[in-house]
Amino acid sequence: MKRRIAIITGATGGIGKAFTRLLIQEDIDEIWAVARNKDKLSALKNEFGSRIFAISKDLSSFDELESIREMLEANKPTVAYLINNAGIARMGNSSGFSAEEIDSSVSINCAAPAALCSLCIPYMEKGSRILNISSVASFQPLPNLNLYAASKAFLRSYSRSLHYELKPCGITSTAVCPGWVDTELLKKEVNGIPIKFPGIVSAEKVALKALRDAKKGKDISVCTLFAKWEHLLAKILPQRLCMAMWGYIIRRYKS
Ligand SMILES: NC(=O)c1ccc[n+]([C@@H]2O[C@H](COP(=O)([O-])OP(=O)(O)OC[C@H]3O[C@@H](n4cnc5c(N)ncnc54)[C@H](OP(=O)(O)O)[C@@H]3O)[C@@H](O)[C@H]2O)c1
Repeated sequence: MKRRIAIITGATGGIGKAFTRLLIQEDIDEIWAVARNKDKLSALKNEFGSRIFAISKDLSSFDELESIREMLEANKPTVAYLINNAGIARMGNSSGFSAEEIDSSVSINCAAPAALCSLCIPYMEKGSRILNISSVASFQPLPNLNLYAASKAFLRSYSRSLHYELKPCGITSTAVCPGWVDTELLKKEVNGIPIKFPGIVSAEKVALKALRDAKKGKDISVCTLFAKWEHLLAKILPQRLCMAMWGYIIRRYKS
């Protein structure tokens, strides 16, 4: 009989670990936990046990993504869940990034999730679920968080189209769009000024809501009323006004 697996990228980080904690309770034979840091992967295995299969890969590398294809071909599992969660957030003026930094942001936040969807769909069946971790940052252009917001807009759009394409097969694809989440991704200060994160929530809350929404077959999951309010504003207000409001909020952090 085929083994049922879940693939979680960035499984050692805040939101990824929260997903691991939830999926380990499900009828899944193995969780393929993907991240770079081997010590953190070992710690994850120690915490959650032998059903964690630790895969140390850098998702910005095409070759390392290809090796996941080889692992799938060798094991021929049923992929019950693919959680494209690994992501990085480069903040600051767009002119401040090197070509390499831009390339790695786009590779990790956009290309790797799309490539993993393509790799995994042939191993999915009716009821399999894809969750792509986007962000409320995808709802509008965000000056000074431009690269990140644009990459998350790609992922939200990609994920929702994929949901439509996969409907006839009974496979769902959910774009998960949380607001601020209390994890190590967030910088705590800028220019010596502590950053405020309105509406910040725990990773556990985001993961729980996302899994529930995915099981209901939703193509988008927005956690907390605060984030839903931001979603609504971004839909009804002109984007220039949304950007001006964002610019006003972040003005105190600019040097
Ligand atoms: N925190 C927030 O406020 C927030 C809000 C909205 C959306 N999100 C999104 O939620 C997702 C998870 O964020 P988080 O807050 O949980 O971040 P986090 O705590 O920083 O965790 C990031 C995870 O991604 C892995 N990772 C980073 N670069 C990688 C690479 N090149 N290859 C493989 N794995 C890599 C990290 O492990 P290694 O470093 O060991 O590789 C870690 O496991 C991200 O996509 C983020 O954009 C976060």
